[in-house]
Amino acid sequence: MKKVLLAAWCIAVSLDCFGGGKLLRTPSVDVVPRPAEMTVSEKGVFTLKPSTKIVFASNDEALLNSARFFNSVISPSLGGELTVVCDGKKASKNIQVTLGTLQAEEYQLSVTSQGVQITAGSPAGVFYAFQTLRQMLPAAVFKGETASAIELPLVEIADKPHFAYRGAMLDVCRHFFTVDEVKTFIDILALHKMNRFHWHLTEDQGWRIEIKRYPELTRVGAFRDRCSLEPGAPLDAQPYGGFYTQDQIREIVKYAADRFITVIPEIEMPGHASAALAAYGFLGCKGEGYTVPDIWGVKEDVYCAGKESTFEFLENVLSEVVELFPSEYIHIGGDECPKARWKECPVCQQRMQQEQLKDELELQSYFVQRIEKFLNSKGKKLIGWDEILEGGLSKTASVMSWRGAAGGIEAAKSGNYVVMSPNSHCYLDYYQTQEVEKEPKAIGGFLPVERVYSFDPYEGLNAQQQAYIMGVQGNLWTEFISTLSHAEYMALPRLAALSEVGWSYDHRDYNEFKQRIKSLTGLYEALGYNYAKHMFE
Ligand code: ACM
Ligand code: ZN
Repeated sequence: MKKVLLAAWCIAVSLDCFGGGKLLRTPSVDVVPRPAEMTVSEKGVFTLKPSTKIVFASNDEALLNSARFFNSVISPSLGGELTVVCDGKKASKNIQVTLGTLQAEEYQLSVTSQGVQITAGSPAGVFYAFQTLRQMLPAAVFKGETASAIELPLVEIADKPHFAYRGAMLDVCRHFFTVDEVKTFIDILALHKMNRFHWHLTEDQGWRIEIKRYPELTRVGAFRDRCSLEPGAPLDAQPYGGFYTQDQIREIVKYAADRFITVIPEIEMPGHASAALAAYGFLGCKGEGYTVPDIWGVKEDVYCAGKESTFEFLENVLSEVVELFPSEYIHIGGDECPKARWKECPVCQQRMQQEQLKDELELQSYFVQRIEKFLNSKGKKLIGWDEILEGGLSKTASVMSWRGAAGGIEAAKSGNYVVMSPNSHCYLDYYQTQEVEKEPKAIGGFLPVERVYSFDPYEGLNAQQQAYIMGVQGNLWTEFISTLSHAEYMALPRLAALSEVGWSYDHRDYNEFKQRIKSLTGLYEALGYNYAKHMFE
């Protein structure tokens, strides 16, 4: 095949520099998430050639990123990178980029036969314009087929996201994913113009972030004695685990930032803490006898809320965490914290008396609010799962609603900011078909693409309350997902549907999406992403 292509290319080049070696434009312009406004003209094409330049008005590293990104996409086909110039000089037949007075993530993209003009509110908008251009390229480009030129369809696009927060969470604790795999997950977010990567880094079954002050967290807490790699299969006798060094964390944060994605780390407390307790027994109410569990489920052993040493430990951990993540938000978990140990623990009970807390829910609220004050002192904001509402929520904490939308609605009504990620619409670990016997084992549920697509994050809220909905997030828990390929299968194309909820909220159309997504799945295939095909059956 390669030889045939090479021969065709040689003939094309020898006959006519921009003749048969051209890669033709895709017949339709199918962009996901759906742009706010788009007009396609059939009256010509723009021909991208090796001589086309990308022209910026200034030499800004954040802008150059987008050029690098676009060059990495097209250079295998064009046999080299487009020249990037930063003098702002206008000339026809180029890709001309300017910043204007638009919203930060907004862009306008004009492709005429005379060139490409991108205007954006910030470098992020420029990046999204290039993502849109990328989706307009012929599929052959992604397969690396060589050409002397690439034809682009003529379009006028004016586009901006509806929600500021468009995220996805990956659980790297139940199963571990390597640095390169995490980068691929980030690439997938970037392709869909998503801008938050919620990285679930600590859990009962594994602590995955190096903390210099507490080496046992990763020496002990990052590994469990046994693990079943095949979902549902008996546990094997091999130790299982892994963690990210702080250098690797910085590398991933930078990789995401280059794609205009903020990484929000999650350090779980007070529950889902067995791995930390196994490393440092003093953190639990009983003080010893903990191991890193190899079975899923909610565990009764949690951080002791009575001992000062628990808070000292968490503040020291968070002090290292805030240095690694530029994100304004730090996620502290807060979900599924059984109160059995606190009820029996004299130190926890003493804390409740001292602080005049009427029950263990208020003790949890004390815990979360104390951590929030600490994060605020470091210039960060706290976000947690909707259980942080129980026992009283501070005025300033933000809520990630997962047990349906009720917690998010309650929080928005009290004037707290909310990310909607209800299990009814946003749980990417749920089955995507009812024919579960044909599927790899999943945690349960039934969440087809269409249902994800239909999600309305504003439901039940008036206009004033809607202002507190920051956006949406898909959650990929990995109890039954041990490979990246399986993670991709669960995420795609449901993440594409969610990207339209977040970006194209008020101009969605599922039947039209079903057509447009076909081009995107062509791109998934070319990029080697595994995806589920139920919606096409
Ligand atoms: C959760 O799914 N436990 C947040
Ligand atoms: Zn206790």
